[in-house]
Amino acid sequence: MSNSSIKTDVLIIGSGIAGLFAALKISEFADVVLVTKKDKNESNTNYAQGGIASVISKNDSFDKHIQDTLIAGAGLCNEKMVRIMVEEGPERIKDLIEIGTNFSKKEGHLDLALEGGHSEPRIVHAKDLTGKEIESALVTKVNSLKNIKVIENTIAIDLITEHNIKQLRASTLQNRTCWGAYVLDVKSGSVIKISSKATLLATGGVGQVYQHTTNPQIATGDGIAMSYRAGAKLANMEFIQFHPTSLYKKSSEFFGEQSFLISEAVRGFGGKLLTRNGFEFMSKYDERKELAPRDIVARAIDSELKKSGEEFVLLDITHKNSDEIKSHFPNIYEHCLKLGVDITKDPIPVVPAAHYSCGGVKVDEFARTSLKGLYACGEVTMTGVHGANRLASNSLLEAVVFADRVALDLKMFLKEQQDIFSEIPDWDDSGTLTADENVLISHNYKEVKTTMWDYVSIVRSNQRLERAAKRIHIIYEEVEDFYKRTKVFSELLELRNLVACAHIIIKSALQRKESRGLHFTLDYPDLSENAEDTIIQNVNP
Ligand code: FAD
Ligand code: SIN
Repeated sequence: MSNSSIKTDVLIIGSGIAGLFAALKISEFADVVLVTKKDKNESNTNYAQGGIASVISKNDSFDKHIQDTLIAGAGLCNEKMVRIMVEEGPERIKDLIEIGTNFSKKEGHLDLALEGGHSEPRIVHAKDLTGKEIESALVTKVNSLKNIKVIENTIAIDLITEHNIKQLRASTLQNRTCWGAYVLDVKSGSVIKISSKATLLATGGVGQVYQHTTNPQIATGDGIAMSYRAGAKLANMEFIQFHPTSLYKKSSEFFGEQSFLISEAVRGFGGKLLTRNGFEFMSKYDERKELAPRDIVARAIDSELKKSGEEFVLLDITHKNSDEIKSHFPNIYEHCLKLGVDITKDPIPVVPAAHYSCGGVKVDEFARTSLKGLYACGEVTMTGVHGANRLASNSLLEAVVFADRVALDLKMFLKEQQDIFSEIPDWDDSGTLTADENVLISHNYKEVKTTMWDYVSIVRSNQRLERAAKRIHIIYEEVEDFYKRTKVFSELLELRNLVACAHIIIKSALQRKESRGLHFTLDYPDLSENAEDTIIQNVNP
């Protein structure tokens, strides 16, 4: 296991929409090394169904999209950032089409779907496989460019900043710079030092911190945990979005398994939510019924399930034309059919599942974090566009808009940043041993996920959060001790990151003394007068 090193202009970590789109834009003026944990297509992006929101129709307007986003965000959006995202959206959709994304069309124009919280149909999509279509177009384009080197099966361990360099360790947090990352080549077990003039985190979300999630296994919050350890500012991590409708399954065979999503677009298409005995319940909770923002629909389902003691509610689309259902939702139709549910004839059993992190690494309008040289875009960030609750299909949009802005800023930054810092030490794992107690990994992985599901999900309370904090602290100490004694491997790195994210989510949730958007607590059921972001920073990195 020999360790090696690479130097590049820009290191990108992650190959979802944010990382790949930024790589394309940056490659116009600089060399890029992009590392990704598994194969390059594996990402949350690849599973996105509903689509990407943008103002395309003549009946629509930027102001309407901005208003819808602000309403969903429950008073916590940064209006300036929302405007940037909405106004630059149509140009980025054009970019995606130019790159080769084949969106669905109707009578020669983009087919625009409707989703919860949107006052106009504005969801650009590729049937119900939008993410797969975008991801594969981006990967094809990236593969064709010589100055983007993609390294698969390579997991970033930690960012390189002053805290890795003995003679600079005492420097203040305000002056911290990021010079790349240490990454693990999963197949060989060797650690590579990648030093760069700038680093972009595009590592996606944290869904795997919860027992039930629509997110794939890669979503272990690595970028959030690495940023925290390096001392970057994080914000609003209490706002975890639970998608109201994931397909119910009795129990998961494997703990990291992702729940299959039944797209919001099914409700946009006319799907009705029913209790198991056929009662339409959404009108009791909100006049927008099934098309209310996600936090409201997820809480309504949670409340019905708690009252009835049932394990799922039903999503019924059987009143719509069966050929149209199959043509709009071929992926959902096929998937459910394989499990014995014909969605044209049978209502679909659904439950909420952790879906999206509205908080993350705090960035400005050019995706700059609080550390010099460290940029972040996509789900790993808190740009301010989602506030306390993300509007459906605004995530892919946010990712492309701010990925483009990273490139705009980097053009200037790279001119100023002539050299790569030369005294970065190699990875030092002397004194560590190969792991011999892997049960600690699997046991603690499950425990983090069940603790977070039972105590830190849709409805919270101080008591539940404090219980969770105690358990997560014990696991944190065990995992840190194991990490210090052991040669790194991917499951250990992911568990270490999951525990850090669980800690950050709980800490943020305890700080928010009100109920707003996705954060609902029995101890403070009302909105407070001041809408403020929750900032978390490790001041002793
Ligand atoms: P991702 O696409 O998750 O990519 C992250 C990348 O980082 C991956 O390649 C991963 O392997 C890599 N990575 C992570 N950690 C490391 C590490 N330590 N080292 C190296 N690589 C690492 N949003 C919408 O707007 N519209 C939708 O219709 C929609 N549908 C969705 C459906 C599902 C089932 C899910 C799960 C999400 C959906 N979302 C949707 C949300 C949206 O897909 C994501 O927020 C978005 O794709 C995130 O893109 P990203 O590039 O930031 O991260
Ligand atoms: C969905 O298709 O329901 C997911 C849309 C989103 O997460 O924005």
